[in-house]
Amino acid sequence: MEVMTDVIRVDPGTPDPAALSRAAECLRRGGLVAFPTETVYGLGVHALDRAAVRRLFDAKGRPANDPLIVHVESVDRMQALVADVPDAARQLASRFWPGPLTLVLLRSSRVPDEVTAGLNTVAIRVPAHPVARALLTVAGVPVAAPSANLFSRPSPTRASHVLDDLAGRIDLVVDGGATQVGVESTVLDLSGEVPTILRPGAVSIDMLREILPRVERRSAEALLSAAMKSPGLLERHYSPRAPLTAYDGSDGVARLVRDACTSMANGQRLGIMAADEDRDALSDVERHRGRATIAYLGSERDLPTVASRLYAAIRELDASGVDRILARGFPGDDGLAAAIRDRLSRASVP
Ligand code: TXA
Ligand code: MG
Repeated sequence: MEVMTDVIRVDPGTPDPAALSRAAECLRRGGLVAFPTETVYGLGVHALDRAAVRRLFDAKGRPANDPLIVHVESVDRMQALVADVPDAARQLASRFWPGPLTLVLLRSSRVPDEVTAGLNTVAIRVPAHPVARALLTVAGVPVAAPSANLFSRPSPTRASHVLDDLAGRIDLVVDGGATQVGVESTVLDLSGEVPTILRPGAVSIDMLREILPRVERRSAEALLSAAMKSPGLLERHYSPRAPLTAYDGSDGVARLVRDACTSMANGQRLGIMAADEDRDALSDVERHRGRATIAYLGSERDLPTVASRLYAAIRELDASGVDRILARGFPGDDGLAAAIRDRLSRASVP
């Protein structure tokens, strides 16, 4: 059913309380409200309102077997949602919350099955964005919020991305400008024997190991069992309409340029995602003016900037109607490098 989607613009640093109380009221009444977090925009809904959670899955076109992250204002507010708060969770929370880390814990019976996709665990995060924090405080309820995109589209890093996907399907967008981190939170599963990263993000494995030395990345095996627990983890995600190819490794840029020249000679229009360092290597490509649009994401040594521009660049290239998108890979294996590689490889699943 088509609804009117209102947009409320707020100052990202000091949001107007009156504007936020309207958004909070909408959430409390079961409405769908998109809001900025420091990672990406979330599509929020009262996490204990089953009917509202079902409407959220409908609005996104998200399969019901992909569980949601519940956002709370503080560690104290997490208590009622989980079976217990293990020491590890408490320590990680005091170091990384508010911030881009999601913890998967054994859930309490208060959390509806609709939120957890029937799992015995629940994912929880305390976001750092001033607008998200203020909204959670005023709403006074836990807020389940997946990224505010249509299922399998790239996550939104601006309010305009949310509207492109969800205008007419949700009640409200709180526009707090561009998000800062640009890729979704690190998801850490604390419910099993070994603390395992299910999704890489800005909080890196090294940062986590300072507090929990036993943290592991998910192995291929762990991915399979995680996927059985959380089928959403395996599906095509973050994908543009145009097929995307990622070029990893030390010869990645050279292979990208070769492929680009061949494709353009065959009449294709290309979108290219590059680093500032690639300008010389791309001069051959630049010469085919009109055939290629190049998005420079920043220096390969400045991954925070690259990550913050990643999804906007994919969306812009895609919207310009190119036939294919070619993306260079970024070196390194710390948090953001792993996160960028993970998102590009998921976006390129054919
Ligand atoms: O940065 C973020 O995490 C953003 C902002 C809005 O907070 N949210 C976000 O939500 O990315 P979403 O729904 O797009 O991704 C949530 C991820 C999915 O991969 C889901 O499978 C996983 O978290 N997840 C949620 N609950 C889980 C659970 N109980 N066990 C395992 N994985 C879970
Ligand atoms: Mg998502």
